Amino acid sequence: MKICVIHGPNLNLLGTREPGIYGSETLADMNEQLRAAGLEHQVEVECFQSNHEGAIVDRIHQAAREGVDGLIINPAAYTHTSVAIRDAVAGVALPTVEVHLSNVHARESFRHQSFLAPVAIAQLCGFGSFGYRLALDGLLHYLRKV
Ligand code: DQA
Repeated sequence: MKICVIHGPNLNLLGTREPGIYGSETLADMNEQLRAAGLEHQVEVECFQSNHEGAIVDRIHQAAREGVDGLIINPAAYTHTSVAIRDAVAGVALPTVEVHLSNVHARESFRHQSFLAPVAIAQLCGFGSFGYRLALDGLLHYLRKV
């Protein structure tokens, strides 16, 4: 089984970006832990980050072409603005879990809306980097049941 993890804009700055909100782990550390967690389940985890909306749309299409089984996406700020990312997920029809490090619902009101959530199987937020581990477990549970 293969899962693609997609990180949106500014998440390349994790480690130094607003550590009080996003923690002090780097994206490279998080990706490494996710790959290792995948291996424990005989699952290949591929990670991708981009600051560009179109590149994220292209990566979603590519994942579908490559036969990826499911997606874990933190669209970051594009969560609240991007119809294009939502349409890409709906278009490829891959089971997708939306993840946020912070509890977006406890923050500014512009972060309360997610364009992606209605086409995702689940939304997870507020657990920091551990949320990605939970998302992986949840997605594998979903995929093994369907
Ligand atoms: C975020 C929350 C978004 O509102 C914000 O724009 C981000 C990160 C999170 O992981 O908590 O860049 O997606």
